[in-house]
Amino acid sequence: MKKSKPLAPTILALAAAIAAALPVRADTAAAQKNYQTFCAKCHGDSGNGNGSAAATLSTKPRDFADCAAMQKISNDTMFNVIKNGGKANGLSGDMQAWSDGFEDSEIHELVSYVRSFCKK
Ligand code: HEC
Repeated sequence: MKKSKPLAPTILALAAAIAAALPVRADTAAAQKNYQTFCAKCHGDSGNGNGSAAATLSTKPRDFADCAAMQKISNDTMFNVIKNGGKANGLSGDMQAWSDGFEDSEIHELVSYVRSFCKK
């Protein structure tokens, strides 16, 4: 059986559209999972800095939902803190470096996820 020609470009366009849309959603879901697994115990499920382990920290994690405060922190800074830890960036050493645990791309997704707690 011969393949019908007009359909092929449509399928290709559809596949491209799906491919363009999917990775973003998959990354966001992965970032959310990573956050809930590794970060929420200090930073809180909703980023308010009130996770179960936060009480034991001498410096409390800030409220990621506080848009005014978060506006003053650049994505680069957040990336560096997550990758290299608080101490290397003049913050609390309780914030460990995650460079061994995450690829740079995953850290960028975590930054986006942390940003999403500020609802404007
Ligand atoms: C053991 C508790 C703990 C865990 C786990 C933790 N953090 Fe932190 N985090 C902190 C503390 C404490 C600070 C620094 C607060 C300060 O010094 O002002 C911080 C700072 C940060 C900052 C810098 C923003 C700022 O406050 O200036 C970001 C971004 C961040 N953490 C993201 C994450 C992400 C993403 C994860 C998970 C991969 C994570 N943290 C895991 C405790 C933690």
